[in-house]
Amino acid sequence: MSSDAPPTADELPPGPDGLPVVGNYLAFVREPFDFMTRNARQYGDIVAWEEIDGPVYQLNHPDHIEQVLVQNNQNYVKGDSFQRTLSPITGDGILNSEGSVWRRNRHLIQPAFHPERIEEYAGMMTDATEELLSTWDDGETRLFHEDMMTATLRIVARALFGVDIEGYVEDIGSALEEFMEASESVSNFVLPEEVPTPSRLRIQRARERLDGVVYDLIEKRRADPTDRDVISMLLDVTDDDDQNLSTEEIRDEVVTLLLAGHETTALSLTFTAYALARHPEVEDRLVAELDEVLDGQTPTMADLSELTYTEQVVKESMRLYPPVPGIVREPVKPDIIDGYEIPAGATIRMHQWVVHRDDRWYDDPLAFRPGRWTDDFESSLPKLAYFPFAAGPRRCIGDRFAMLEARLLLATIYQQYHLELTPGTELDLMATVTARPKDEIPMTVHER
Ligand code: HEM
Repeated sequence: MSSDAPPTADELPPGPDGLPVVGNYLAFVREPFDFMTRNARQYGDIVAWEEIDGPVYQLNHPDHIEQVLVQNNQNYVKGDSFQRTLSPITGDGILNSEGSVWRRNRHLIQPAFHPERIEEYAGMMTDATEELLSTWDDGETRLFHEDMMTATLRIVARALFGVDIEGYVEDIGSALEEFMEASESVSNFVLPEEVPTPSRLRIQRARERLDGVVYDLIEKRRADPTDRDVISMLLDVTDDDDQNLSTEEIRDEVVTLLLAGHETTALSLTFTAYALARHPEVEDRLVAELDEVLDGQTPTMADLSELTYTEQVVKESMRLYPPVPGIVREPVKPDIIDGYEIPAGATIRMHQWVVHRDDRWYDDPLAFRPGRWTDDFESSLPKLAYFPFAAGPRRCIGDRFAMLEARLLLATIYQQYHLELTPGTELDLMATVTARPKDEIPMTVHER
């Protein structure tokens, strides 16, 4: 249905009944993955339900998701619920900003993600992985998700902000962790913004700690710019009004890149290791490829084109366990989707988690089968049947960086270690902006 057609339908799409006042909010926060999946399977491609602050339209068909994220993207903003979660820490960085501020800053940051520039990061990524592996003892049990968070934060910090950020990384990591934990509290979404809940106070403290470190780093670069790092790039900018970016604007972009640039990739590697531990036949095939292509050498950029199964493993892991499980948007003006009028300001939810597990696109969708990712299969999929990095102008700026990093880390780790999941460990996830494990993911590491 064309989005240019005048809104006509006044009927609501089908959906689950809700309770008075809270609507379906409790079912959504208690078990978001099951709730969204059930809705899609029971009611179809477009489902209406109620959150506390209004109607939600859940889109489950790739073509409708493409309409919102790509074809008609100029009619959509991220909206209140997204801003409420992230802006207390990332401010007006490019993950949150809209319109001309977003356009200007995305354009300014883009050169740091140029494909040739990203390729230069490969050696640093494997070095950081080797550093981590040098702390592992044969037979010990590691908290794998924590290890991945440490490695990916170090990598994004070194790549975008230079090696001398090293002394700051631990403080940054713990402040971001504090923020992420505190921002999961339901009270943030239910109580008015002025109420100083314990979690809001924790968020405030995390922000103060983070700001101390990041402002320090910005001052250091102001005094002594480098020709490589993103802070120096942003300090050097003169925008259309001949104004430099303010220190606060630069702070927001730095924190955005540090947060968006490490947590997602760490999750993707954690989910991949979890899936591999439960599918020894996939791990065997992965290790056979690593042995054959790398012959014991550390993987390099040049090896990646031959590590086809490694790439398939990463893709399949991001299908079954998308680190960003859902995307939210609000229409600025009413839109027509699948014949239904979606009012301005309504919440639209599009869940990778649901679409990536739809048996219309994926045969045996709950099976972990990396081999399904042949070129023919990929080109037969509707465009938005697979969107771990979103799509359209707001597509992830770090998608290539993340794919490079995930493949190199996976190859470096599995070339040297077999990882055994501690028996009884389940992947129980909570959904905020990302899908985070509720519990530790302990893995015993065995040298090969
Ligand atoms: C597996 C890893 C990753 C996944 C699954 C992922 C996923 C996503 C998704 C789905 C979005 C769109 C969010 C929305 O529209 O609401 C996004 C945006 C973004 N990502 Fe990533 N990301 C990953 C890694 C990275 C890395 C490594 C960086 C930076 C080094 C990064 C930086 C960003 C930024 C800055 C945005 C906002 C872009 C904009 O709105 O212009 N991400 N990411």
